[in-house]
Amino acid sequence: MFTSELATVSYIGATILFILSLGGLSNQETALRGNLYGMIGMTIAVLATVFGPQVTWAGIPWIIGAMVIGGGIGLYAAKTVQMTQMPELVALMHSMVGLAAMLVGFSTFIDPEASKGFVGAARSIHEMEIYIGILIGAVTFSGSIIAFGKLSGRIGGNPLLLPARHWINLVGLLVVIWFGREFMNAHTIPDATTPLIIMTVIALLFGIHMVMAIGGADMPVVVSMLNSYSGWAAAATGFMLSNDLLIVTGALVGSSGAILSYIMCKAMARSFISVIAGGFGTASAAPAPSGDPAQPAGEVFPVNALETAELMREAKSMIIVPGYGMAVAQAQHTVYEITKLLRDKGVNVRFGIHPVAGRMPGHMNVLLAEAKVPYDIVFEMDELNDDFPKTDLVMVIGANDIVNPGAQDDPNSPIAGMPVLEVWKAKTSIVMKRSMASGYAGVDNPLFYKENNRMLFGDAKKMLVEVLTALKA
Ligand code: TAP
Repeated sequence: MFTSELATVSYIGATILFILSLGGLSNQETALRGNLYGMIGMTIAVLATVFGPQVTWAGIPWIIGAMVIGGGIGLYAAKTVQMTQMPELVALMHSMVGLAAMLVGFSTFIDPEASKGFVGAARSIHEMEIYIGILIGAVTFSGSIIAFGKLSGRIGGNPLLLPARHWINLVGLLVVIWFGREFMNAHTIPDATTPLIIMTVIALLFGIHMVMAIGGADMPVVVSMLNSYSGWAAAATGFMLSNDLLIVTGALVGSSGAILSYIMCKAMARSFISVIAGGFGTASAAPAPSGDPAQPAGEVFPVNALETAELMREAKSMIIVPGYGMAVAQAQHTVYEITKLLRDKGVNVRFGIHPVAGRMPGHMNVLLAEAKVPYDIVFEMDELNDDFPKTDLVMVIGANDIVNPGAQDDPNSPIAGMPVLEVWKAKTSIVMKRSMASGYAGVDNPLFYKENNRMLFGDAKKMLVEVLTALKA
């Protein structure tokens, strides 16, 4: 058993490890170490809590039973989930944090033991913790469930834009504040129950409304925003349970998620405030000036693997832009083999990574690191965008939205304003994908019809193997 002093020291140790973990995760080279710190910190935190002073021996079998079931489900999910389904899994996990915050809030509310000893201002603060904890938990829970539905394609990607939706949100907020007052003024549990339940229902509806109002292309920001919300929900749970570590950890997740959301908003030229308020990505509601934006509009110039290999051989400089399709096809290892071969022949090969390429933050970096692509040839969008005019060949592998010139040229495009990799400025670009289908945002891509662009149709892995064979021949 951990004494209270030992538990406190363990919590401080775990907090330091969590901070080191976040620091480590900010860079590919130290990410593995960062993960390790996080795992050690979490083990210490769980042990210090389960065997700490707040848990009696009678409670331990329950906790261990719950950990075995929860851990088993988590292990199974982590082992079976495809990399491309990761955002859905993350959204589902955020919903669990929200649900936990709600449940802890309600159990703290109905358990007379939990409020024992709170009088005067301390009691008011305790009640406020319960109210706010359930509020954040409910928004996180329902919002994350909708995000899961949208990311997994179970719910359509189009934004649901109710008339006067901002007014609906504002009225909801005022009602929540009003019932918060009622809740604080109630003297008995039955009196306080009605305001608490009304607020919970409004918060659940707000979570649904907030994420439903967000267009498909803007989902990355929502995922990281819900990540932040789940952190604040955990911090609120920490206040209710008087658990310092949960407060600190929740605050770390909450603030790092908020910073990531801000970075993503900047990367996609979206307003941070409108994301927090919901109803983000509404540009997609504006009608396109002509035709269906998802319909191909023009002639394309197809090439085969041999011609692609020929263009690669002739190039002195080449930039590879990977996207979601490379992840689906699991083509990263073949990409690296081609890279190695070309670099050995003296071609300057670099990778250009868009901040929202793929389906989760850092998706492409993870895949390239897995294939052992050296970090020093992997560049962020901003570092490479000026180099495209000086580049002989750009190879776009299973990417679409992130190389769409319409984001710059077409103010009515659903992705208008999103910074993109300006691949069309290179001497030649080759887009490798299976068909003329649109990407995640559901918009046609004018890049495909440019005179200096070639289309290599087929599954990324299959086509790259053919290209590699042709290069070796
Ligand atoms: P997308 O725009 O989704 O385009 C991917 C392309 O890959 C598709 O057009 C598809 O065309 C092709 N593809 C699919 N399977 C393939 C395969 N086996 N072989 C070859 N090609 C294949 O991807 P992107 O350019 O990476 O952009 C990411 C999009 O996802 C953005 O709109 C972003 O906002 C959104 N998003 C990002 C995140 C994060 S956090 N990164 C999270 C959620 C959503 P075919 O069907 O013709 O092959």
